[in-house]
Amino acid sequence: MNSLTNQEILDYIDKTIKIREKAYVPYSKFKVGALVIDENGEEFEGVNIENASYGLSNCAERTAIFSAVTSGMRKIKTIIVVGDTSSPISPCGACRQVIKEFSDVNTTIILANLNKEYKIMTVEDILPYGFAL
Ligand code: THU
Repeated sequence: MNSLTNQEILDYIDKTIKIREKAYVPYSKFKVGALVIDENGEEFEGVNIENASYGLSNCAERTAIFSAVTSGMRKIKTIIVVGDTSSPISPCGACRQVIKEFSDVNTTIILANLNKEYKIMTVEDILPYGFAL
């Protein structure tokens, strides 16, 4: 359930656009930024981090979530993801599954691009019939 105002969403997108600049992307040159906010309002940043062994690259979403979980987070309140895409960025399948692990019906997923066009989604929107134990 999203209770954010349009202005709050745009502010989060601005913040994530700045985070995105820290991406380490010598191979794809495609920078992605992510911001995870937990239920206490604490914020965790993530960028994509690539590797000469391409398959070891880590997406921005997973960088942010793994950092948050390391600090004790277990439930994502809000996650914002920004990339330089023509429409709001579409997370990869692996990240959708990782987002699901730490989300519930109250989690707000904001997907955006550099023009600040955005989509607001739930975990069920991005990963219908996703795997859970
Ligand atoms: N990437 C992300 O970080 N998040 C996404 O949602 C899509 C893809 C990264 C992986 C790789 O470093 C680069 O973007 C190109 O695929």
